[in-house]
Amino acid sequence: MSVHSSDRPFSIHDIQAFTDAGEKFAMLTAYDYLSAQILDEAGIPLILVGDSLANVMLGHDSTVPVTVEEMLHHTRAVARGTRRALVVGDMPFGSYTTTEQGVATAVRFMKEAGANAVKLEGPLTELTSRLVSLGVPVMGHLGLTPQSVNQLGGFKVQGREEEAAERLLADSLALQEAGAFALVLECIPSELGARISEALDIPTIGIGAGGATDGQVLVFHDFLGLTTGRLPRFVKQYANLRGEIVGAAKSYMAEVASGDYPGPEHQY
Ligand code: KIV
Repeated sequence: MSVHSSDRPFSIHDIQAFTDAGEKFAMLTAYDYLSAQILDEAGIPLILVGDSLANVMLGHDSTVPVTVEEMLHHTRAVARGTRRALVVGDMPFGSYTTTEQGVATAVRFMKEAGANAVKLEGPLTELTSRLVSLGVPVMGHLGLTPQSVNQLGGFKVQGREEEAAERLLADSLALQEAGAFALVLECIPSELGARISEALDIPTIGIGAGGATDGQVLVFHDFLGLTTGRLPRFVKQYANLRGEIVGAAKSYMAEVASGDYPGPEHQY
């Protein structure tokens, strides 16, 4: 039986309890009311309103252009659809360039959008400890940090060299020390994912970081088979909803054309 079997909402302490008990857990992204409601019904403990919505919802090439207002709009919808899951709002590029700006943005996520926590990319220990001292739970994010794609020179696996791996380990420990309640590790070698997870007490949540992290996260549209094109190696599609939707749309068009829809049972 899971360490969290009651009906009450998940807190950051429940997420820590999974890891303390050696129980692996899943996180998924969601960007709207209905998806959040469905994932909540499935019992997912953590929903991330990821800035990946820039790509999958808004059609941008990277997460750089998405604004705070857009993120708050989607976070509000997710919070409305969620009863139990812990909702994490992703602070977008350019919204935490200073500690003061970061505090102001995080407060908006919590106060105006109903987030239960925020996520920050990079080793921002000062901002993390300030937010934690103000009562804002912080999820860190290291490895491939997509907001820095222009600095990184593309979406590449990080921490392959020993020096980079050591730095990632040191940054992970520093974020834990600063009070982060969990840490996303994106696109790093599996051995490094295992090494960091072993070194930390807080849960690590991997996406392309191997099987040894405490949790895993996938993007909603990827795991449901809604996205097309070349997918990253770490994506597993648990459904083929794109195919289902195309098939349903074709059936509907054909039935409208043939006059089979609406049938007598659909008419007043
Ligand atoms: O924006 C996002 O969806 C993310 C996850 C992939 C971790 O940051």
